[in-house]
Amino acid sequence: MLDLFADTPPWQEPLAPGAVILRRRALACAAELIEGIEEVAARSPFRQMVTPGGYTMSVAMTNCGDVGWTTDMHGYLYAPVDPQTRQHWPAMPLAFRTLALECANEAGYPSFQPDACLINRYAPGAKLSLHQDKDEKELKAPIVSVSLGLPAVFQFGGLKRNDPLMRVLLEHGDVVVWGGASRLFYHGIQPLKDGHHPATGNLRYNLTFRHT
Ligand code: SIN
Ligand code: FE2
Repeated sequence: MLDLFADTPPWQEPLAPGAVILRRRALACAAELIEGIEEVAARSPFRQMVTPGGYTMSVAMTNCGDVGWTTDMHGYLYAPVDPQTRQHWPAMPLAFRTLALECANEAGYPSFQPDACLINRYAPGAKLSLHQDKDEKELKAPIVSVSLGLPAVFQFGGLKRNDPLMRVLLEHGDVVVWGGASRLFYHGIQPLKDGHHPATGNLRYNLTFRHT
């Protein structure tokens, strides 16, 4: 497909109160981010986590930063040690942190201090059901979410699970920042359509930065 926006600088699209899409914001550093993902995954491999209810997630995950999001028999938690390797999660690469701080700042959250980066990997068919990001103690801090590789349909609703959903296509290099009034809005990812992206093949990656 001809990308009409290939040479266009990043632009902003408001999404909801406190939420904005920074279109193509991560395009210039995408190759560096993908290298960072590979380095993190070489030490803390991608794995399909099992929810407390016994359901194996279709999205494969790993983490970098001081703490990482993981599951155990009792629920969801942020832990400093990867339960699979029993080592600390890899440090957050500088390129990750720099991008997250810049994006938060541009979205109106100037003092963002992320201590966790969850890395999601979607293969064709993988999805993330509607959920709230509410395992963080620091709800004043936004979520910064970076999309890489194949496009995916992002659903963004409201505070109630059955609030109407907006559906937006997130493409390679797009960044979504949500906080303030929309910090606890329900969101999810529809099943990934098969395809080929020059940077990631048939995969989509998503980085979500949080201050836990
Ligand atoms: C998430 O909600 O944690 C990830 C969203 C995405 O993959 O874009
Ligand atoms: Fe989420």
